[in-house]
Amino acid sequence: TYVVTENCIKCKYMDCVEVCPVDCFYEGDNMLIIHPDECIDCGVCEPECPAEAIKPDTEPGLEKWLKLNADFAKSWPNITIKRDSPPDAKEWDGVADKFEQHFSP
Ligand code: SF4
Ligand code: F3S
Repeated sequence: TYVVTENCIKCKYMDCVEVCPVDCFYEGDNMLIIHPDECIDCGVCEPECPAEAIKPDTEPGLEKWLKLNADFAKSWPNITIKRDSPPDAKEWDGVADKFEQHFSP
């Protein structure tokens, strides 16, 4: 599966949802996640994310993010249509400690 990681927080560009062939993105207040049981590992979304927040779970160190994606996939609503990203998305790209300080489920 692919997973959405920290840099999505407050960037939330939503380009990813437009390309997913199985519509497996789910929406929280300030980030999206991927349902790990629905993702077919096609990899199409990874290069589409302007924040480079989408990674294959084969990359080391992503256990925390895989768990977060799996946990919130149970309750967050599905999203298939891109809306406008936050006006300050660019300013949040690459900011440190976004999960600790800004994650909002
Ligand atoms: Fe969707 Fe493919 Fe990305 Fe999985 S890897 S979330 S199936 S676009
Ligand atoms: Fe987040 Fe990137 Fe999608 S910032 S909403 S994973 S395009």
